[in-house]
Amino acid sequence: MHFSFLEKFGASILIVMWLVWGSHTIGNFVSPEPAKANAIKIAGVATTTTAKVEKKEPQDALVLLAKADPKKGKKTFGKCKACHTTDKGGKHRVGPNLWNVVGNKMATGSGYSYSNALKGKGGEWTYKNLDAFLKSPRRFAKGTKMTFAGVRKATERADLLVFLRTLSDSPKPLP
Ligand code: HEC
Repeated sequence: MHFSFLEKFGASILIVMWLVWGSHTIGNFVSPEPAKANAIKIAGVATTTTAKVEKKEPQDALVLLAKADPKKGKKTFGKCKACHTTDKGGKHRVGPNLWNVVGNKMATGSGYSYSNALKGKGGEWTYKNLDAFLKSPRRFAKGTKMTFAGVRKATERADLLVFLRTLSDSPKPLP
């Protein structure tokens, strides 16, 4: 067989057209796949977002108490030392001595003159109350004399709470 130039040319045009049509058809077959892949991607994004929310710092230090470390709390207490002593029978400074504070009635350390704001609260220093007070003293007891911004990180507050707990001859059980 012998093809003329025109025949070859015609054939190659046909082949090119067939290829274009073919890839288009294949494309149609393939296209549902990327859609699925996108759905998976979207689902993936959704799961990472929830994971992020779960990893976010819990606002409540109480759930962290079991894992909290009194030694770290003692270090964090460096922020409080200027105003508070922690030894049994220790002196009051700007703030009251904190021996046996966990579980004790609020604002009842003997020989210290508390603000009316704290005296007026009239509850006990449960872990929950201490957590709220240390997070934001002013929000907990508006008008408190404790001029301290508060400890924002829940993990730090948890460490502080288990440290404060050790300041006693009979530490109060954790909640
Ligand atoms: C600038 C001084 C200052 C700093 C810093 C400070 N406190 Fe106080 N704290 C006070 C004063 C003043 C009071 C008394 C508040 C009142 O009567 O309203 C107080 C009260 C308290 C009480 C209540 C005690 C009671 O007998 O009812 C606790 C508990 C306490 N502080 C813990 C802490 C901890 C823990 C820190 C560190 C994270 C800290 N404070 C940092 C000044 C301070």
